[in-house]
Amino acid sequence: MPMLNEAFDFIKLYYTENNLPIDQLEKRLKEVERDIMEYGHYTHTSDELAYGAKVAWRNSNKCIGRLFWQSLQVKDQRAITDEETIYEKLLEHIEFATNNGKIRPTISIFEPEKVRIWNHQLIRYAGYEQEDGSVIGDSDSLTFTKKCIELGWQGEGGQFDVLPLVIQIEDRQPRLFDIPQEYVKEVPLLHPEFDWFADLQLKWYAVPMISSMKLEVGGIAYAAAPFNGWYMGTEIGARNLADEHRYNLLPVVAEKMGLNMSSSSSLWQDRALVELNAAVLYSFKEDGVSIVDHHTAAQQFKRFEANEESANRDVTGNWTWLIPPLSPATTHIFRKPYDNTKKSPIYSYQKTPY
Ligand code: ARG
Repeated sequence: MPMLNEAFDFIKLYYTENNLPIDQLEKRLKEVERDIMEYGHYTHTSDELAYGAKVAWRNSNKCIGRLFWQSLQVKDQRAITDEETIYEKLLEHIEFATNNGKIRPTISIFEPEKVRIWNHQLIRYAGYEQEDGSVIGDSDSLTFTKKCIELGWQGEGGQFDVLPLVIQIEDRQPRLFDIPQEYVKEVPLLHPEFDWFADLQLKWYAVPMISSMKLEVGGIAYAAAPFNGWYMGTEIGARNLADEHRYNLLPVVAEKMGLNMSSSSSLWQDRALVELNAAVLYSFKEDGVSIVDHHTAAQQFKRFEANEESANRDVTGNWTWLIPPLSPATTHIFRKPYDNTKKSPIYSYQKTPY
């Protein structure tokens, strides 16, 4: 009985790490066993669920921001069963997490096995393929954007159109909801020295809220459990806006900087990258939106590693994700091996529903 084993492991972890009395643990294990035998599943208490979501963050091998795992704000939304109310709760999540820029790491957890949110992130930009094969907007959103259009959404065809929320309950027809503008905090990008940077009219949204992953706790899979932290600058400046298959802005920035783009040994790509990343960090700070640079994030990760060691726990990690995409060798992470073993509770990928 796999669920029983996983349930027992998690309940034990919860009681042990929180120093709860052993007789209560035994009572809870009996109850969980009885529920699984009788119904094939059991129900987490709100406290168990909240702790499970936090430990799943602690176990996120790809995440450099894990120092703050205990501060996760957990919204238990398991009682909600209709699309409209889920939509309202998602808007609440966006508002609470955004907090006018002082971002709060937050997760909203919906009923397991029932609810799916089709979006990859609650707020993300659409991508439209042009006839010549080029893309306007975020090419990472191409397939999902098409789906939204099929379901009746009308995109404006711009570089930064916020996609609608798509919510599905069981095998019902998915429903689309627009996110009102006032919920979408965005940061226009400026550069601390280059005045021309503003003319590029770039921006990015304030809060990355992953909504496509499932949270697994003690044998129960929460398929709809959108969560967020705040951005590390390089996610935007060295990937989303820089990758050739995303916004591909290095040539644009290099050109404006007047760099010699005829030879890669002029390091025009590297120089453009640095300035693009400087613009991201500068603009978020100017606007009072939480963000962390990769050097600070690596230092915080070092503290996380030390904390875990004190608690006698092994830190697992995925080196290829933990190193920042900009100047990785300036961080201690670059020179350390990491064991990528997966531990439960865990956030993991799941099949796209479309
Ligand atoms: N890399 C993703 C993006 O650029 C976001 C992933 C989660 N990031 C975070 N800082 N919590 O949109």
